[in-house]
Amino acid sequence: MIDEKTKVVLFLSNKGGTGKSTMIANISYLFATHYNAKVGILDMDFYNPDLPSIFGVENRKMGIQNKKLLPVKILPNLYLASYGFFLTDKKLPVIMRGVQEKLITEQFILDTDWSDFDYIFVDFPSSFSDGGLTLMDRIEFIDGVLIITSSQDITLIDTERSIIFANQYNIPVIGVVENMINITCPNCKSVLELYRRESLDEILSLYNVEVIEKIPFDRDLLISVDLGIPFIEKFKDSNLVENLKNICEKIIQKVKR
Ligand SMILES: Nc1ncnc2c1ncn2[C@@H]1O[C@H](COP(=O)(O)OP(=O)(O)OP(=O)(O)O)[C@@H](O)[C@H]1O
Ligand SMILES: [Mg+2]
Repeated sequence: MIDEKTKVVLFLSNKGGTGKSTMIANISYLFATHYNAKVGILDMDFYNPDLPSIFGVENRKMGIQNKKLLPVKILPNLYLASYGFFLTDKKLPVIMRGVQEKLITEQFILDTDWSDFDYIFVDFPSSFSDGGLTLMDRIEFIDGVLIITSSQDITLIDTERSIIFANQYNIPVIGVVENMINITCPNCKSVLELYRRESLDEILSLYNVEVIEKIPFDRDLLISVDLGIPFIEKFKDSNLVENLKNICEKIIQKVKR
């Protein structure tokens, strides 16, 4: 069960590959280390659960105590619940029906020990199917939605859908993180903008939602995912750390209660 005092934030994009898992991993890590908050990550990606690999803990298991599942401890203040910990042969595709998604989601919310957490960050699925909808039914109070997007025209409609979804459930939108916005040449330092990003601001203004941070394409961020060491741990001195801290501070400000 999730305590009433725990603040719950959904990381949403309604599109695959925009960087939700990468962001949730690094932001949670910062919350746990820099902001001294106890954070639980709920990985709702049952089909391709990447978070255990991103943290390099894919061979661990979720234990059981007092009939409750225990999220895997990554740091003294950082825990992860993921379906990835239940997969014995990771190369096999995960194939399940909606009813199984619903049961797993209920176990991850109702039968998991979430006592005493300051924040739970949810890596929300890219579709509004049974897993995500069960989560909406079972968590009493969701404090905010953070939308992670890349600003390609084709993802604009997904960003808009995410905002409408949050509005339908009366959940405040913390803001939009525009990920992989540009890339800097390591030799001449010129910056290449990756997207046209003509209409994003226009759409966001319709809903009174703001871009809270822009994150460049960063090779170290990409590599850290493959190494299984969170970027924020391996590249402590990177300029990106400030961008990630800004996101944390926006979350703290906007989900105050
Ligand atoms: N700012 C960035 N710079 C470089 N690579 C990035 C950045 N953000 C994410 N990536 C890379 O982009 C890919 C997609 O990111 P990630 O897996 O976090 O997205 P996702 O939204 O969780 O995708 P899915 O919906 O498939 O789970 C990964 O390979 C990740 O390493
Ligand atoms: Mg993911």
